[in-house]
Amino acid sequence: MAAKWTMITGASEGLGAEFARIAAAEGHDLILVARQADKLERLAEELRQRHGIAAEVWPTDLSDPEAVETLWRKVALRRHVEVVVNNAGLGYNGPFAAESFEREKASVMVNVVALTILTKRAVTHMLRQGGGRILNVASTASFMPGPNMAVYHATKAYVLSLGEALAVELGATPVRVTTLCPGATATNFAADAQMQQIVLFSSLPVASAHSVARAGWRAMKRGRRLCVPGPINKLVALSSALAPRWLSARIAGRFLAAPAAGDRAAAD
Ligand SMILES: NC(=O)c1ccc[n+]([C@@H]2O[C@H](COP(=O)([O-])OP(=O)(O)OC[C@H]3O[C@@H](n4cnc5c(N)ncnc54)[C@H](OP(=O)(O)O)[C@@H]3O)[C@@H](O)[C@H]2O)c1
Repeated sequence: MAAKWTMITGASEGLGAEFARIAAAEGHDLILVARQADKLERLAEELRQRHGIAAEVWPTDLSDPEAVETLWRKVALRRHVEVVVNNAGLGYNGPFAAESFEREKASVMVNVVALTILTKRAVTHMLRQGGGRILNVASTASFMPGPNMAVYHATKAYVLSLGEALAVELGATPVRVTTLCPGATATNFAADAQMQQIVLFSSLPVASAHSVARAGWRAMKRGRRLCVPGPINKLVALSSALAPRWLSARIAGRFLAAPAAGDRAAAD
């Protein structure tokens, strides 16, 4: 029987590396994607040794749509891709009015454009192959506008909307799309997005990457439409659905604001 492959983006660290460990433990052959080739190679070797699976490393900058199309063309050529985990993502915490724009642009390209290309290509490939599973990583940020993190929240609202629409469109087919909406999770994400000092990460419980990846993986295997791991995150999703949008935005803005200089000094 031909091997069936699982592609995981953003597999060099954080949630993506955890998805890879969980998938490998279940015997999946892996296609690992991110920019940091050395980290991907170390993880691939660890998983080959421990689980006897095949693991290929595909270093790719997902902010380049041409590179994403090329990646998919090469990966899907003569391979049966059974699972795609669109996990790679980044954010930026800071005022929209700031001059800098590179990180916000990269967020749109990776979180939205690359994810859409890979979802589109995977859906058509999987329909031809007779089935498959797609797990798209969104966020609790999907449920509300995010003042001081406006672009990131907008990208994650897109991921949720796309996934919910596809879950209906593909309902009668053997292809399932699951959207995972984690809250604050212990990875490199917060430091990378300059979020460590904000209320969200400094005063609310932060989940382990393994527990979040495990919840998302299970939901994906069961063909669930949506997974919001943890009771606090479920409450956030529910209250955002009930509250007026302007109020959700105001409250989110409190959690996303940088602490005042005095508060920051006291925390250090
Ligand atoms: N941690 C949280 O609190 C949290 C909460 C909600 C949702 N999420 C979402 O969870 C997902 C995973 O994030 P994480 O928490 O595991 O963060 P992380 O530890 O910072 O990992 C992010 C991953 O994305 C990859 N990536 C970033 N830019 C890329 C690019 N241009 N091309 C290819 N790969 C790129 C990184 O790989 P390279 O640097 O090697 O390219 C890395 O593997 C993201 O979609 C994030 O939005 C995280």
